[in-house]
Amino acid sequence: MLSGLLIKNIKCLVQTEENPKLKVCGSDMSAISVISDSWLFMSDGLITDFGRMKDLPYSITALKDLKTIDASGKFVFPSFCDPHTHLVYSGSRELEYIDKIRGLSYSEIAKRGGGILNSARKLHETSEDDLYNQSMNRINEIISLGTGAVEIKSGYGLNLTDELKMLRVIKRIKDTSPIEVKATFLAAHAVPDEYKNDREKYVDLIINEMIPVVVPEELADYIDVFCDKGFFSVEDTERILMAGMKYGLTPKIHANELDFSGGIQTGVKYNALSVDHLEFTGDEEISALSGTDTMPTLLPGSAFFLGMQDPPVRKMINAGLPVALASDYNPGSSPSGNMKFIMSLGCTKLKMLPEEVINAVTINSAYAMGLSETHGSIARGKVANVFITKEIPSYEFMPYAFGSNLIETVILKGNIIK
Ligand code: NIG
Ligand code: FE
Repeated sequence: MLSGLLIKNIKCLVQTEENPKLKVCGSDMSAISVISDSWLFMSDGLITDFGRMKDLPYSITALKDLKTIDASGKFVFPSFCDPHTHLVYSGSRELEYIDKIRGLSYSEIAKRGGGILNSARKLHETSEDDLYNQSMNRINEIISLGTGAVEIKSGYGLNLTDELKMLRVIKRIKDTSPIEVKATFLAAHAVPDEYKNDREKYVDLIINEMIPVVVPEELADYIDVFCDKGFFSVEDTERILMAGMKYGLTPKIHANELDFSGGIQTGVKYNALSVDHLEFTGDEEISALSGTDTMPTLLPGSAFFLGMQDPPVRKMINAGLPVALASDYNPGSSPSGNMKFIMSLGCTKLKMLPEEVINAVTINSAYAMGLSETHGSIARGKVANVFITKEIPSYEFMPYAFGSNLIETVILKGNIIK
């Protein structure tokens, strides 16, 4: 017998789809479908049906074990998908924040042994259980802020033992939290000190000794490389991506955050699911991305926090590209996983329209983590991951009220979590 959860009297149901798409590109990004005065019915963890209040079927309201939420005055959104984070880390790096305020650049801090290597040292000294507990606090925080699916990268291990520690924590989060998790292997996040003068040897280690252990343990879905000035070259990136692909990992890479690194073209060449950051994007990069399956994924939290230039989003959308947004939640360049704030940065800093940011944090970000068939919109048969807002006047109010937590109720896989 069918039972389930009904949300009724919804002021506005946002991002509904009758014919689900995998992603939204170019000028189509400025439109979203909404249904006012509506209902949404979920059962067995999935979205079963939705429509206007006047058409709410008796067969649903008459159900025996029906749970009902009245959402008068409130909006219902599909949960955010956050396709780029580094939220498994130990401690924090607020002292580097002070260095940044005093004028040091991200690269200068990294060169002085700060940055990623600083987090690697902290992680090395932290037990797997402690790391899990610290990370679960962040997971529970982002769930309460409306995120229902998250990609998490390794990359603060930088040796086999510590990379495995991170990846096992990610797996444990996957097994114990209602949030949907994708794992990315990012040993090529920074060159550890012992390989400072022999980066190639570290790349060899990743290829010959790490990937062959990580993959059989089923600890990763994707392979990532920080392909940028001062980190890994195009040649390193190609070698690592090819090795990962041989083992069945799909590329999803950091590119063009610090320079015109060639990372975007390399990602496209290897059919990466996404290329991420893209602060340094010109006409060549835009034309390399055009017509491909690679999702340009922007991380405005890190450009905001580091005070760096923003990517040319308007140019990208005008050229017909899709765009996804992610938080980049990490201790160095974006210590926040608040996707609603990312929406505000998308609007205010990147000059995206509210409809464009809604597409960028739902369907397109689901695509950037391989989940757009099951997540990222209100569509029949998709996973019942939604949130209900407080009473708000419009969906535009979400990015506009940038400091307010407007997310009142969180539902993941059809269960009320908050
Ligand atoms: O995406 N760009 C490389 N990695 C992270 C920063 C990680 C850190 O500083 O700890 C990023 O911004
Ligand atoms: Fe990152």
